[in-house]
Amino acid sequence: MKKEMKFGTQCVHAGEKPDPLYGAHTTPIYQTSTFVFDSAEQGAARFAGKEEGYTYMRMVPNTPTHAVLVEKIAALEGGETGQTFSSGMAAITAVALSQLEKGDHLLSTDVVYGSTYGLFSSILTKFGIEVSFVDTSDLEKVKDNLRKNTKMVFLETPANPTMTVCDIAEISKMAVKIGALSVVDNTFATPRFQRPLKLGGDVVVHSCTKYIGGHADLLGGVVVGRKEFVKSMTPIVNNTGATMGPHEAWLCIRGLKTLHLRMEKHASNAMKVAEFLEAHPEIEWVRYPGLPSHPQHEIAKKQMSGFGGMISFGIKGGIEAGRELMNRVELCALAVSLGSVDTLIQHPTSMTHANILREVRTKMGITDDLVRLSVGIEEPEDIIADLDQALRTAPRS
Ligand SMILES: Cc1ncc(COP(=O)(O)O)c(C=O)c1O
Repeated sequence: MKKEMKFGTQCVHAGEKPDPLYGAHTTPIYQTSTFVFDSAEQGAARFAGKEEGYTYMRMVPNTPTHAVLVEKIAALEGGETGQTFSSGMAAITAVALSQLEKGDHLLSTDVVYGSTYGLFSSILTKFGIEVSFVDTSDLEKVKDNLRKNTKMVFLETPANPTMTVCDIAEISKMAVKIGALSVVDNTFATPRFQRPLKLGGDVVVHSCTKYIGGHADLLGGVVVGRKEFVKSMTPIVNNTGATMGPHEAWLCIRGLKTLHLRMEKHASNAMKVAEFLEAHPEIEWVRYPGLPSHPQHEIAKKQMSGFGGMISFGIKGGIEAGRELMNRVELCALAVSLGSVDTLIQHPTSMTHANILREVRTKMGITDDLVRLSVGIEEPEDIIADLDQALRTAPRS
């Protein structure tokens, strides 16, 4: 039955079962740090991995609330199982630390979230891991930069904040050939629109803080992949302690129940907003994977079933005009993060990606004039009217 369920039905039902103790219909929040054993022998068996069950919230599998979330997101991504974390960055850190060691090489998409860039460029390199940032939208460049010691290929697609798209299937094939693991940050697209594991990727990571939670009220991360891969992260999970809280796990479960509906509205709104911006005389350029003008529109069409809610654009008049716009919007919130029900606007080079050197950023296409919009699920006419009034009233240099 489960295999035949459609995506929206899985959002609502996957992983859900009535609470075995009292029959509670919705998943209870197991707000407990520790679990009582029936006997000393049972405690020892659980710690030795000889008996399945819970021990302590930091230890795999955390709590029954976490277990429901893992089952749900694994079903949605088409993966075997997963592991939750306290944030998206904790999830990415655990993937890297559990798989890479001194002398290994990591090939990463050049345009990634600012803290992912910081983790790879400043922290992993401290431990003797070699890192290359490559324009993964260019398959020749990927091929040229794979090395004998490449153990992991990390892809962010669509990339934050340039919206650059790379070919997951083609790059995963290249990774398989040299025995490297392909890891995809699927935060922007979500499994509603992109299923990296079905395209040949090995591992999916998410910042649950974004569309999975969906309401800008939690911080969380998750990793989905094969059982043996997820098991290989256990020492990092148990011994470093970036544990998602049970309340956050519950909020993610609730968020996922409406993921399909929210994503469809985010995407249809974003398409309308992108078309409005592209036609606006004050707008210099727009990047949205659903627009035929997007440089990788064909790849996006091939691997995505929808184009998500994120847009980047530049205004005539550059950053000064961009600042004016951000200061003048009334409905859109001037805030970092993304994937919330409400529309958020921000300036990556002075906010989310400010930690990347200006020369490096500019080379990657993260230019000073880039404004990033996370289109919410309000009515599109209202979002467009707000942007329009802000564009009309902004003074021009
Ligand atoms: C694509 C992407 N991946 C990972 C992260 C990190 O997630 P978190 O803030 O939950 O640590 C972010 C945060 O903005 C992101 O945009």
